[in-house]
Amino acid sequence: MARADLLLQLVQAALTHDERRVRGSVEALASEERLKRHTVLADELTRLLRTSPPPPNSHRQPGHQHTDGLMEVHPKRRLADLALPESASEDLWALVEEQHRADLLRAYNLEPRHRVLLIGPPGNGKTSCAEALAAELAVPLLVLRYEKVITSYLGETSLNLGRVLDEARLRHCVLFLDEFDTLAKERGDEHDTGEVKRVVSTLLMQIDQLPSHVVVCAATNHSELLDRAVWRRFQLKLSLPNPTRDQRVRFAQGLRERLGMGYERSPRTIVDRLGSISYAELEDFFLELRRRQILAGDLDGESEELLTKALSSWNNRARGTEGD
Ligand SMILES: Nc1ncnc2c1ncn2[C@@H]1O[C@H](COP(=O)(O)OP(=O)(O)O)[C@@H](O)[C@H]1O
Ligand SMILES: [Mg+2]
Repeated sequence: MARADLLLQLVQAALTHDERRVRGSVEALASEERLKRHTVLADELTRLLRTSPPPPNSHRQPGHQHTDGLMEVHPKRRLADLALPESASEDLWALVEEQHRADLLRAYNLEPRHRVLLIGPPGNGKTSCAEALAAELAVPLLVLRYEKVITSYLGETSLNLGRVLDEARLRHCVLFLDEFDTLAKERGDEHDTGEVKRVVSTLLMQIDQLPSHVVVCAATNHSELLDRAVWRRFQLKLSLPNPTRDQRVRFAQGLRERLGMGYERSPRTIVDRLGSISYAELEDFFLELRRRQILAGDLDGESEELLTKALSSWNNRARGTEGD
């Protein structure tokens, strides 16, 4: 016999025509039955859910479901491939486990966490984390394409965002909102007509209402621009700062091994010459050096000259970007 509270919840949801809650209750029933080893019943319930996908929102036109506001990426990078602060790594693995074992959580009326804010300067793994999460969960990464949804008409923008999120909610996926502050910061803009605020509030509400099988990853380099309403919505806030010297040295050692480089000069010396830079920049430097070595036939990486040249062109480039 199924748990009384789940049955009551199901009946109540059905009587109020709340399809989302009906589906949630059926999912919970299925996992409950599976735990009790009533596999045939559990399979049948799951089959029913699968064979009748949720209908499009009633106020939307059928056929408007497919938008090009989402770019689908098939993720390859894994979490273990990334150099992450320990706390961030633990949080991400915890989220992966909650998602993998969502049925068990739902049998106890709990949902897995699914809203993640990734904070940090460029090149330290925000996009990579979203991709790796998708890879660990074996689901696609759907990247929101702002250029396709934001138009000069705010009303239209809201509608577009709604369509895109409706499309995402039908899938088990990681939804990636890059540079989230560009949208959210408008809330604090005093020249605001009030409409921008409404667009952002609507987006936040829509994010809130996404089912837990949509893992939302929002990334920002400017967390100070996000107000508390935004902050509160994310269950996990992960900081990915620039790497420390030790972290850079370890990363450089890993890169040298991966690229099959056999440099005499210790990575520590090279890292010190490069200064405080991001993982992405460090990777760029070593990739470029390796290209030069291979093209010069210096497979063992013995040429001091190539290294010196790479370092000096790196320094020139760095000075060029500082703008003084
Ligand atoms: N923490 C990291 N661990 C391993 N590689 C990284 C890390 N951060 C950045 N990279 C490398 O730099 C590239 C760019 O990083 P990305 O994830 O796009 O950074 P962000 O989105 O924070 O700007 C990645 O594709 C990866 O090769
Ligand atoms: Mg990025």
